[in-house]
Amino acid sequence: MNVVCIGSGYVGSVTGTAFAVLGHPTTVIDIDPSKIDLLNAGKSPIYEPGLDQLVRKYIGKTLFATTSYQPVHEADVVFIGVGTPSKQDGTADLTYIKKAAELIGAYLHPHRFTVVVNKSTVPVGTADLVTAIIEEASGLKAGEHFSVVSNPEFLREGYALEDVFFPDRIVVGSNHERAKNIMRELYHRLVERVSYEEISKDFAFPYNPLTPKAVYFETDVKSAEMIKYASNAFLAVKISYINEVARLCETLGANVLDVARGMGLDSRIGGKFLQVSSGWSGSCFPKDTAEFLQTSRKYGTELSIVKAAIESNRKMHEFVVEKIRRRLKILNGKKIGILGLTFKPNTDDARQTQASVIIQMLLDLGANIRVHDPKGMEMFKAVHPHLHVQYCASAEDVAHQADGIVLLTHWNEYLQLDWKQMLSIMKTPYLLDTRNFLPKKLLIGLGYQYEGLGIGTEQEIDGGIMNQFSVLSV
Ligand code: UDX
Repeated sequence: MNVVCIGSGYVGSVTGTAFAVLGHPTTVIDIDPSKIDLLNAGKSPIYEPGLDQLVRKYIGKTLFATTSYQPVHEADVVFIGVGTPSKQDGTADLTYIKKAAELIGAYLHPHRFTVVVNKSTVPVGTADLVTAIIEEASGLKAGEHFSVVSNPEFLREGYALEDVFFPDRIVVGSNHERAKNIMRELYHRLVERVSYEEISKDFAFPYNPLTPKAVYFETDVKSAEMIKYASNAFLAVKISYINEVARLCETLGANVLDVARGMGLDSRIGGKFLQVSSGWSGSCFPKDTAEFLQTSRKYGTELSIVKAAIESNRKMHEFVVEKIRRRLKILNGKKIGILGLTFKPNTDDARQTQASVIIQMLLDLGANIRVHDPKGMEMFKAVHPHLHVQYCASAEDVAHQADGIVLLTHWNEYLQLDWKQMLSIMKTPYLLDTRNFLPKKLLIGLGYQYEGLGIGTEQEIDGGIMNQFSVLSV
């Protein structure tokens, strides 16, 4: 099957590469020539573990990249994976989707049947909009020459290849039999599970499909569009909930790690997405919750729980700053080291990140900030130029004369730091671990004034997220 992916961001690059690996001639199209040049040079335009190796191996064989929409002419399936950034009011900006639809229309073959797939996260009703634009641009009839289906993407940054090759579920929204058949055929191998050996010969990645087969779920177009928003908002609500419970645990002297474990052992709740943090962030949750809330308001059914989660998340950022203030008192002139700028580990994505909000608040209070991140410093600097911080070449450097260190992102590298040496160059040995990630006992033994989140003062933990994972994955 000839596949085209419009957009070479997370969705387009990963989806395109995956279908190329599965043997479908696949072309990634992007209007930005620098990204296309990277792909043609065998490099991934985004940082994602394992993707570089696959692009290098398949480019020019089954994977192709171009700025021209010409390959749409020969395509059986065209995925739209362009960005849908938030507008000022929180609603999704569909400019790139509309432009892509127009160009698809201009290049669609009049004597083929092409399935056009909305893979970007788009508001309910966008498939109808895309259909109308393509009809107008092509003069062709929906249902006869093409059909627009919704196939939302659920990949997580940092685990994108695992998610794309071994998904839990594949959701396809379509009201058209021929389009449904083409989608079933395209996804057949992923539903049946490709063999781990076949995929992992190019690189090693965690193999953890939850079920022997992926669930292939067909529904109508609008329900598929809704599933994506409802899922992301639900996950954001779940994290906000445990973060609020964590704040109460601190007040009452309970241990949120045990509370989350105990809750997660109930299969109706499940242990995932119950890890406390300084708040959820990233390129999806903030954007998708905002759009979902605005849509609900527009149609007079405000999602009050989503609204509360957004508010609660903002309070979680404030709570972290308040904790630092409680410990260090006046922040004016204090030196604070920040470990982790990306919204989570294993990504260089530092666009929408809790670090930018928390750092801004600390700067407003007069603190001097030194920062480090293994992958995200370049992007953070480019996207947040107004944040006047000192970028450190090594994580140990943030400790220099510091009144405190705050860990925001749980990069594995940070477990290996020379914490003893760092302590020796700090002014005050205060360490706030917002992910309850570091080995608490060891650090206290070294002399740190260690604080986690949601762990009452009476409580002791053996330390580390490893403990947490071992039970959470039961
Ligand atoms: C999310 C969805 O998980 C994915 O299905 C969708 O396709 C895109 O949006 P992603 O944004 O890559 O993926 O990150 P995710 O791993 O979901 O984390 C989002 C945020 O929540 C991060 O800031 C993360 O640190 C935080 N988080 C996650 C927590 O604070 N606690 C948790 O238990 C899990």
